[in-house]
Amino acid sequence: MSKIDKCLNIEDLRIAARRRAHKMVFDYIDGGADDEKTLAQNSAAFDDLELYYRVLSSTDTPDTSTTLLGTKIDVPFILSPAAGNRLFHHDGERGPAKAADKAGTIYSLSSFSSVSIEEISRLTKGPKWFQLYIWKDRGLVKEMMDRAKAAGYTALILTVDLPITGNRERDPRNGLSVPPTIGLKQIWHGLQAPYWCWDYLTKPEIRYANLSDELSAVSLQEYVSTQLDPSFNWDDAQWLLGEWGGPAVLKGVVRADDALKAVKTGFKAVAISNHGGRQLDTSPAPISCLPTIRDAVGDSVELIVDGGIRRGTDIIKALALGADAVSFARPYLFGLAAAGEQGAIRAIDIMVEALKRDMTLLGVKSIKEIDRSFVGKKGS
Ligand code: LAC
Repeated sequence: MSKIDKCLNIEDLRIAARRRAHKMVFDYIDGGADDEKTLAQNSAAFDDLELYYRVLSSTDTPDTSTTLLGTKIDVPFILSPAAGNRLFHHDGERGPAKAADKAGTIYSLSSFSSVSIEEISRLTKGPKWFQLYIWKDRGLVKEMMDRAKAAGYTALILTVDLPITGNRERDPRNGLSVPPTIGLKQIWHGLQAPYWCWDYLTKPEIRYANLSDELSAVSLQEYVSTQLDPSFNWDDAQWLLGEWGGPAVLKGVVRADDALKAVKTGFKAVAISNHGGRQLDTSPAPISCLPTIRDAVGDSVELIVDGGIRRGTDIIKALALGADAVSFARPYLFGLAAAGEQGAIRAIDIMVEALKRDMTLLGVKSIKEIDRSFVGKKGS
């Protein structure tokens, strides 16, 4: 049994990632904004929910498949986009893209990816979505959408909870920039992460593969504040949908009125998300926003929920409260940082196995059987 296979859950992978990765890298994945209250609440909100399982209704081979924006997927979760994966391991986005393909689900590529739109497209036959931020330079926005379309990405994810970056205090403390600048502190931390350092020094340098090479060694905060457009609004979103011409997801919504505006603007799915607690601290956990948003939008739009999903029971709770699917990034990023592609695959395998086991324990044979009757507030 390989070392990574001894990791039984996502927390084990997190600990393995902390052991192997440079401190600035682990903290970039692990951290949130301000006091990290939202980061903690995203997970804690699941603890307030209990599952009312059903007896004498199980199968040991539950059907975990479903559809999302017309694409059949083998599991009711997809991989959330995440920036600069090469920083975590030289496999970069190739690792999670292959893990998604193996599980028969959608891989979402970040516009800040360290492997190009085209290379990821060629790597697997699996379904892929492309995530977009809005650059001040609209020519660049159009160019990226055209490249994604030409490369066969079937849906666009527009992330709208990052007009500027949240106040992630771990990053400036560690002196994080992309590519990393190496000073005394980084060398000191590097001595405790020899595998990461060897990997970093002997493999191609990290770069944002979809952007020009001229940008070097800036913090994410500085890059976002100089290059992205914080004044992008609903009218601009409508323009964007026209340019894209295909199905699109609005990601980063926590309010019912915003979800309704998304439907009116023409988005086919809404991702209820607070960016993993990395943006506005004290914003609510997505799982807590889900019932109100589902009640407000009815069946007019598909809902994807992320934030704090680490167990099969978390997936089931979200589906029970009205999500069409869930998504997550940290679980596979911990796997990637711990052991590259094999680690990302391990993370996804853990989630698939957990979901199957928990569906059998819950007493359902398929995803569509999971409804609100299975979930209740603690003590209710
Ligand atoms: C993040 C952005 C870039 O670091 O998605 O959260």
